Order: sequence, then structure tokens, then C-alpha cells
Amino acid sequence: MTSVPALYGPVAEDLARVEETLTSVATADYAPLTEMLQHVLQRGGKRLRPAIALLAGGFGTYDSDRQVPLAASIELLHTATLVHDDVIDTADTRRGRPTANSNYDNAASVMLGDYMFAHAAELVARTDDIRVVRLFAETLMVMAKGELSQDISAYDMAAGNLRDYYERIDGKTASLFATAGTGGAMLAQADERVVCALRSYGHSVGMAFQIVDDILDFTSDAETLGKPVGGDLLAGTLTLPAILLMEANPKDNPVRRLFVTEDPDSRAQQLQAVLQAIADADILGRSNAIALEWRDAALRALEPLPNGSHRRALEDIAAFITGRSF
Ligand code: IPE
Ligand code: IPE
Ligand code: MG
Ligand code: MG
Repeated sequence: MTSVPALYGPVAEDLARVEETLTSVATADYAPLTEMLQHVLQRGGKRLRPAIALLAGGFGTYDSDRQVPLAASIELLHTATLVHDDVIDTADTRRGRPTANSNYDNAASVMLGDYMFAHAAELVARTDDIRVVRLFAETLMVMAKGELSQDISAYDMAAGNLRDYYERIDGKTASLFATAGTGGAMLAQADERVVCALRSYGHSVGMAFQIVDDILDFTSDAETLGKPVGGDLLAGTLTLPAILLMEANPKDNPVRRLFVTEDPDSRAQQLQAVLQAIADADILGRSNAIALEWRDAALRALEPLPNGSHRRALEDIAAFITGRSF
């Protein structure tokens, strides 16, 4: 796990101010809370969403004192969703260190996440822009619905189709990338056309991001990624590779066989059968090609925007997302 500051050239200085804001968030007037906040905020993630929010501001009238709180708010919202997601997924590592739920417990982690959501709302209110505050609130509603729909559709073969999958990953992931682009541009009073372009960029890059995350769940290892892998199928979560496999084998479906198997030894065998079938049909190659299509859509969305270092940084982020190994 590293950060990717080289990508963020034109906004590197303000990203450092985002870090300072997050550090100040990590100090509460209650020592146990401070300890937990520092635990989840100290070791940073890739900071992709705040970088996009700051870069989007570069296409309008950029005011650091408003863009930085927005970017910090988006990262804090993101990190709060991870704290809750790790409770839901019973994950023990995140960003290369123990999760809040493994270090403390589920009850404390739920409240920690709540506190972080509220603090994120306080940060976005500092922008004094009601449109951006509304966008923030709507995004959180959409994300909660996305996580809920994934949870409710676990082990449900009827949810194993591309349309429902795209809807789920749009909700839980792409919506926040879209909000980073939209909110950053809106706050800088950019033209409506520019706001739309950056919304579309954020959406597409976010779809590519989650597809790659779902591929890495099959191909990566916990050390490289800093979080557990291989859990999606066992948790009944149907992601792109499993869905493509189901579509390729409508009659004799290895995923269905895995889902109906209860005995642990037979389950391990069925999982191996799924992984073998995925390898045989080059499903991961096909999944990757779909991620690249979303990346290309993100690049096309940038076409109306002026050339320059901000647009280049957004292009580099899109390329990073589809080539990433962490
Ligand atoms: C992880 O997002 C959650 C998903 C949407 C898959 P990131 O991979 O951006 O997490 P950090 O912030 O870099 O840890
Ligand atoms: C992403 O879901 C979490 C949110 C968008 C809230 P995942 O469960 O796939 O993310 P990881 O793999 O734990 O990072
Ligand atoms: Mg998870
Ligand atoms: Mg995942």
C-alpha cells in the first residue's frame, strides 16, 4: 500500500491541506474516540476521490479555502463507508492494518462510522454552498442503498445479471466518484457543461474502479492490496467475473453449485471449480476489457474540457485505476 501523489501534480499542495484537515478531524474531545479516529485516518489510502474533487475545481474559479473542506469531506465520507463496510464484510485488514472492527468491536465501529459521517457533513457545510451540501446528502443516501442492495441480493442468483450489477456498483462506488467530479466543479462555479463532463468522468472512472476491485478480489493477495481478498464469492456477492461465468454456462452453472453447497469441504471443491472455469473461459481478461471500456468512456467525457495539467492528471488517474495492483 502506497499513496499515488505523483498523479496529483497540480493539486499536490492542496491535497496536503486535505491531510491536515483530516488530521484535525482525528482529534476529538473524548480520548477513546480520538484513538479510534487516529487508527482509521492515520494510514492513508490512495486519496483518489479528494484528488478528483480538487482537480475538478481547476475548471472553474478555484478557491482553496472552499475546495479543501469539500475534498476532505469526500475522503472522510469514503473512509466512514469503509469502516461500516468492514463491519458488514467482517474484514480484518484495511490499508494494510487491522480494521476498526477487529481492533475494537462492531458496536464501537458503527458509532465511529456515524461520527465520521456527521463530521464529513460538518466539513461540507463549511463550503456554504447549499447545492454541494444537497449533493453530499443525496450521495450518502445512494451509497447506503447500494450497499443494502448488495447485502440483500447475496446468494440470489436472480441478481446475477449485468444490469443489476452495474446498478449496485454505481450506487456503492461510482456515485461518490461522480460526486467528487460534480461537487468540485460546482463549488468552483464551473459552467453547467463542465459540471456534466466531470460528473460523467467520475461515474465512468468509478465504474472502472469497482470492476478492477472486483477482479483484484480474484487475482490479488492480501499483502499487496492491504485488505482481504477472495471473499466476494464466498460471501455470496455476485461480481462481474461470476456474472460473466454464469452467462457463459446458463445450464450447468458452477456458481449455483457453490451457492447451494453447505458442507465446508465440498464448498472448497466447488470454489476451485468456479476458479478453474473462470480461468478456462478467460473471464478475467474479458472483465478487464470491460473495465477498459469504462476507462475509455471516462477519457471521452474529458474531451470537451480544455487541455492542460488538470485534464492530464484526470487522464492519468483513469489510466492508474485500470492498471492498478493496489
Ligand atoms: C476501496 O476504495 C473501496 C472500494 C470502493 C472498492 P479505495 O481502494 O479507493 O480505498 P483507499 O481509500 O485507497 O483505501
Ligand atoms: C466497497 O465494497 C465498499 C463501499 C463502496 C462502501 P467492497 O466490499 O467491494 O470493498 P472492499 O473490497 O472491502 O474494499
Ligand atoms: Mg468490503
Ligand atoms: Mg471488494
